[in-house]
Amino acid sequence: MSEAGARDWGIVKGEIMTETIIKTENLHKTYTSGAVKTHALRGVSLEIPRGSFTCIVGPSGHGKSTLMHLIGGLDRPSDGTVHIDGTELSGLGNRELAAVRAKRIGFVFQFFNLLQSLTAQENVEVAMMLAGVPEKDQAERARALLAQVGLAEKCAARPSELSGGQQQRVAIARALANSPDILLMDEPTGNLDSAAEAEVLELLFSLHRQGKTIVIVTHNNDIARQAQQVIRVSDGVISD
Ligand SMILES: Nc1ncnc2c1ncn2[C@@H]1O[C@H](COP(=O)(O)OP(=O)(O)O)[C@@H](O)[C@H]1O
Ligand SMILES: [Mg+2]
Repeated sequence: MSEAGARDWGIVKGEIMTETIIKTENLHKTYTSGAVKTHALRGVSLEIPRGSFTCIVGPSGHGKSTLMHLIGGLDRPSDGTVHIDGTELSGLGNRELAAVRAKRIGFVFQFFNLLQSLTAQENVEVAMMLAGVPEKDQAERARALLAQVGLAEKCAARPSELSGGQQQRVAIARALANSPDILLMDEPTGNLDSAAEAEVLELLFSLHRQGKTIVIVTHNNDIARQAQQVIRVSDGVISD
């Protein structure tokens, strides 16, 4: 596929990881718009080990994003359960759920989802405010994270002044704002050219080596080939 895929990112296959950090049981999600019901998920049970690199693959429209949203507590299932680090999300009220999301999970989306009127640094700081990082620490920590993703010089830039790859790296810095154990990435390189994709993947794999649990939806076969676990979603269920 892309040049990026030809690299070896240093994932150790076959490494023994026993502790489960994400677990779903019999997840269902039905969307209702007017008279139309869409059964996006129809009973998904999975386990993801702590520190692993897991790919979710499957055709467009078959429920991958829905699954990511439920795992990350961005939406609630119609039926079934999600456990994050032993906490069952359905047992949480909206405020508690928001707190788990802010502190334990970092999200990265295909279209970056940065706030256009804010600088790179402010975009990262916003995530810290939500998780209650003391205000006096926010600016320094945001600058350190932007430096970590190779954007030390771009703290004051707005998204419109950055390339796609740079915007996605700001989004990754934002996802790291509260030191989450889990990074959920929904086609993070789907909107990037191959050079920018390579930069972003390099960063992702270095985060994996630092111990983050990475769950990534991707159409890049090279990433899937190197992942420790590949989950195939087809028509709202796990196939294989
Ligand atoms: N908010 C929504 N309201 C109604 N239908 C939705 C919504 N989100 C997704 N869907 C539908 O659910 C199915 C699965 O979508 P999605 O999870 O986005 O698939 P994927 O990420 O694999 O492309 C599709 O048929 C899609 O149209
Ligand atoms: Mg999707």
